Amino acid sequence: MTIVNPELRPYLIEHATPADEILQELAAENRRAYPRDVRMQITPDQGAFLAFLVRLTGARTVVEVGTFTGYSAIWIARALPEGGRLVTCDISEEWTAVARRYWERAEVTDRIELRLGDAAQTLREMPREEHVDLAFVDADKVGYPVYYEEVLARLRPNGLMVLDNTLQRGLVVDASDTSPSTLAIREINDAIAADKRVESVLLSVYDGLTVVRKR
Ligand SMILES: C[S@@+](CC[C@H](N)C(=O)[O-])C[C@H]1O[C@@H](n2cnc3c(N)ncnc32)[C@H](O)[C@@H]1O
Repeated sequence: MTIVNPELRPYLIEHATPADEILQELAAENRRAYPRDVRMQITPDQGAFLAFLVRLTGARTVVEVGTFTGYSAIWIARALPEGGRLVTCDISEEWTAVARRYWERAEVTDRIELRLGDAAQTLREMPREEHVDLAFVDADKVGYPVYYEEVLARLRPNGLMVLDNTLQRGLVVDASDTSPSTLAIREINDAIAADKRVESVLLSVYDGLTVVRKR
């Protein structure tokens, strides 16, 4: 199932704030070095949207679950105000080594803290206080229900959580698909829609982007 007409994809990207040269080079390296995994990287229009949300909310403390090669982290980090900080979590030494290289080039290394290890554990080790202004959840899909609860407990009232891939290429409405990822995404989508602690909207941006505001 196609969420957005493929012919419209380039048009959408061309009509959002563009990725600069460094981000374009990172995307090209992802395509070259990781052709099977490159789909994990967010698209430039998603990056522009994330940066937009960070700037609009004045977020100073941001958490990212799922770093990969650091593309989304650059969009977020650049939008932070002076003194703002991004904590980003991943389990892959290899992919995050690429991220560190590009963060240096983008001059955002001083505002990013990479925490290597299982993200559920990393989140649980953060103070269980409402101190996070904005979070971006984009790691293994089976982990989303846990990431959602751990992040929500730490999100300040009026803080935002953005979750990627919440349409799973449309498989959320294909009853014949019972893969662990689709089941987990259906579970979290239903839980968010019914969650009285938040307001939310599931946007059909790329593979589905859910934006949640903590009441
Ligand atoms: C979709 S990619 C992140 C893409 C990134 N946000 C970007 O736009 O470039 C998902 C990442 O989650 C990481 N991951 C998978 N399982 C994880 C876990 N249990 N804890 C932490 N990270 C995990 C993978 O190593 C991978 O880099």
